[in-house]
Amino acid sequence: MTARLEGRVAVITGAGSGIGLATARRFASEGAKVVLADMNVQSGEAAAKEVGGIFVRADVTIAGDVENMYKVAFDTYGRIDIAFNNAGISPTDDDSILTTELEVWERVNRVNLTSIFLCCKYVIPYMQKTGKGSIINTASFVATMGAATSQIAYTASKGGVLSMTRELGVQFAREGIRVNALSPGPVNTPMLQELFAKDPERATRRLVHIPMGRFAEASEIAAAAAFLASDDSSFITASNFLVDGGISGAYVTPLDA
Ligand SMILES: NC(=O)c1ccc[n+]([C@@H]2O[C@H](COP(=O)([O-])OP(=O)(O)OC[C@H]3O[C@@H](n4cnc5c(N)ncnc54)[C@H](O)[C@@H]3O)[C@@H](O)[C@H]2O)c1
Repeated sequence: MTARLEGRVAVITGAGSGIGLATARRFASEGAKVVLADMNVQSGEAAAKEVGGIFVRADVTIAGDVENMYKVAFDTYGRIDIAFNNAGISPTDDDSILTTELEVWERVNRVNLTSIFLCCKYVIPYMQKTGKGSIINTASFVATMGAATSQIAYTASKGGVLSMTRELGVQFAREGIRVNALSPGPVNTPMLQELFAKDPERATRRLVHIPMGRFAEASEIAAAAAFLASDDSSFITASNFLVDGGISGAYVTPLDA
């Protein structure tokens, strides 16, 4: 493993599970000091122990929690170089617009979109102190592609993440702060497993659209996050970085070999 993140301080939200956990492992293995934030204390603490980082309990929908999370990171390590704003939800009661309740719409948008607003709002001033930083906001391939198997609030929230990221990337480009969206295709994490557990047909219906014929592993998304966090991506900002196994480029996919 290369040590591209030696001496860097990274704050990761949703670090107790899935993509966040895999990224905490990856960032730590590349030399970063990692601050792991999650609302789930048990999984967050276990993850922090595993990677040798520190855990901060934070509900990313609450401004005070988000402010505190960065304060703890800064007070502990004296700088913040990387913010991976990754916590998100994809509940089963978010479905067709015809059946999705307003409460669900508001909850999903608060966790997936308002949280990114809060994280960026409170981390950018720390990055301005050093004139350098990389912010990575987790969006999704559904921000740019329509699905007949709708999750309307989720899709709209990720579209919001994409346009907010673009604007922030442009606004802060000359201050040395890069802001990129990371858009995974379907990833084999607890979020996806829960969604498909009751209904294997749901998984099959999606797999046919993926040229690679499989879901991503969380470690593959973590590898892309590490690239965006590191100076290897020094000329990339305001971008939508797709890691989707070819879904967004596909018209006809290969038949099973
Ligand atoms: N799994 C996929 O197929 C997929 C595809 C595209 C994008 N994404 C996005 O990737 C991100 C991570 O997803 P994952 O699959 O790793 O999910 P996951 O459910 O495995 O992990 C999400 C983590 O976020 C935490 N979390 C949820 N709400 C929170 C809150 N309010 N405050 C703090 N922490 C909170 C959870 O406790 C959990 O540890 C999400 O933004 C998701 O939308 C996932």
